[in-house]
Amino acid sequence: MPFTIAIDGPAAAGKGTISKAVAAHFGFAHLDTGLLYRAVGRRVLDGAPPVDAARSLRPEDLEADSLRTPEVARAASRVAALAGVRAALLGFQRTFARREGGAVLDGRDIGTVICPEAEAKLFVTARPEVRADRRYLELKGKGLEVTREQVIADMRERDARDAGRSQSPLRPAPDAMVLDTSGLDLGQAVVEAIRLIGPVRG
Ligand code: CDP
Repeated sequence: MPFTIAIDGPAAAGKGTISKAVAAHFGFAHLDTGLLYRAVGRRVLDGAPPVDAARSLRPEDLEADSLRTPEVARAASRVAALAGVRAALLGFQRTFARREGGAVLDGRDIGTVICPEAEAKLFVTARPEVRADRRYLELKGKGLEVTREQVIADMRERDARDAGRSQSPLRPAPDAMVLDTSGLDLGQAVVEAIRLIGPVRG
């Protein structure tokens, strides 16, 4: 039986960690949809036209470690505003969402556009300064040369573009449960997410 858990929210709110842990807890498959847009952004930085890049995306394009850089995040957010790019990635995500055995998808528009019929929807958020600190530490931990100011400016710009675009803007679905992770470490956030979803899963 399909059972979809949609996890949306702004950059560095904790979606990735929560989604992986929730998928492991329920024994569901997991798709980080941000990786699709990052992979398209990467190919566009390499010179490909955006819609062609989205249409011809291959599984191996999602594996590159270089997808987690600020440069690729910016490119992802730009291509993600294009209707043709979103349309090219829609079918794959919908099919994944309704696969047998259950699925967790995390992104910006899972509960609103990709799978409005999702059985459980979570909107994960946190205060901008908390999210910026998390992303700064994550990027530093990977050895990237970034400043805190740069990370904050990048995140603000990307959040504004993601929330302000006409195509599938970032916003909570009306029936989403909101989880603010500002005062929680990621372990506590995972526990809270499972506590919210558990009763829906039954
Ligand atoms: O990890 P982080 O939350 O910073 O970003 P991500 O989830 O990897 O997404 C990168 C970019 O892809 C976002 O800033 C969005 O512009 C775009 N995206 C989207 O438009 N729709 C999705 N379902 C997932 C990501």
